[in-house]
Amino acid sequence: MIKRILIVVIPFLTCAVFFQSCFYDKADQQYPSPKDSTGNNTCDTTNIRYSVEIKSILDANCQTCHDENGANTVSGFNLYDYATISGLALDGQFTYGTLLSAVMHQGGAPMMPEDGPMLNDCDINKIAAWVHAGAPNN
Ligand code: HEC
Repeated sequence: MIKRILIVVIPFLTCAVFFQSCFYDKADQQYPSPKDSTGNNTCDTTNIRYSVEIKSILDANCQTCHDENGANTVSGFNLYDYATISGLALDGQFTYGTLLSAVMHQGGAPMMPEDGPMLNDCDINKIAAWVHAGAPNN
């Protein structure tokens, strides 16, 4: 009887542990939203849309090497192609997925933007929130 219970319980526990250590949750924990000096949250990470917030981060920081007009031949990645960016976001590589690890400069992914300073915390949090939501095409 005990054996039969264990056969059911052990896989269940194993699954629970795996979901607990899901890398998107870790990204959220390690990258809390920045607070301003009064303690208010100055970064709105609710309802992050690929077509608006993520695209505007790309426009400002990544377009020169990752746009749809051929500059992506430098990098090999057109981040304006949804299938490409969502694939990089959810591939599970480099600790937080390639996209998030690249902008967080963590986990050994190529550090992005390649030629400039790191994105500000709010932009990184927005990307993290979008990845956490499953990188939707919204
Ligand atoms: C100055 C050019 C340049 C800019 C700006 C730039 N990148 Fe890149 N990016 C590259 C190059 C070159 C590669 C290929 C590097 C490699 O594979 O080592 C790359 C690769 C990547 C990859 C894939 C890494 C891999 O190995 O799979 C991601 C994700 C990425 N960039 C995200 C971004 C994001 C997000 C931004 C803007 C915040 C950005 N990059 C800005 C040049 C750039």
